[in-house]
Amino acid sequence: MADLDGAEQRIVVALDVPTAEEACEIASDLRSHVGVLKIGLELLMSAGVEVVRQMTPFGLPIFLDGKFHDIPTTVAHASRAVTRLGVSMFSVHALGGRSMMRSAAEAARDEAARARVHAPLVLAVTILTSVDERTMNRDLHISGGVEEEVVALAELAASAGLDGVVASPREVRAIRRVLPPTMVVVTPGVRPAWADADDQKRTMTPGDAIAAGASYVVIGRPITQPPAEIGTSTDAARSVAEEISRSLEVNSPT
Ligand code: C5P
Repeated sequence: MADLDGAEQRIVVALDVPTAEEACEIASDLRSHVGVLKIGLELLMSAGVEVVRQMTPFGLPIFLDGKFHDIPTTVAHASRAVTRLGVSMFSVHALGGRSMMRSAAEAARDEAARARVHAPLVLAVTILTSVDERTMNRDLHISGGVEEEVVALAELAASAGLDGVVASPREVRAIRRVLPPTMVVVTPGVRPAWADADDQKRTMTPGDAIAAGASYVVIGRPITQPPAEIGTSTDAARSVAEEISRSLEVNSPT
């Protein structure tokens, strides 16, 4: 995995585009300005898993955000397959339960040893950053507050042997209070002050997310489709890195 010394290393760019060509273009422009390339469902379903191999030459770690949620055996087999692809991180839904998460983590470690590749970090998606309390209570029939549910799911993920969680930056502090410090916390729903919220509901700025304890921030549209006044994708990534850098300086122990 990327070491987290540089501010850029903490930026995960979401390649939410429909073709491998567009993804390659973004990766090529941003390779020196971000730390991780995230392949999500849109790109995976339109370009196929082959797109993972097409991203490898850019030399950046790959986060396959497959958000697996199925019976433990199926998730274990899928986890073996993504491990063989050589990704550095992949995601499963914590709402799939303890045994499903444990199957994913065990399968990834076992397959990595067998294929002699680095074991990928297995991350649990807690509650999607597009889901607010009203949606969670009314539509998903999960009572209580979002933060309480996210923290409970993060603890479940840790007890199932996962390496980290994906959660909104607004829940990072609460998660950090209960998770071991070695657990990775990845936060989407991150919006620089100059960007639109789009469909994200529980957002925070990159600087604040890192100050709260996020290991990585996931940013898609604000970097891949930046507002005209910010300039190119590279300018947008640079601005995010500067903000993270300032936050690291202010919050680093002296
Ligand atoms: O464009 P934007 O910055 O909103 O992209 C955020 C990315 O993070 C998307 O690829 C989305 O699928 C992903 N994500 C999320 N919320 C989660 C997990 C992943 O927005 N809880």
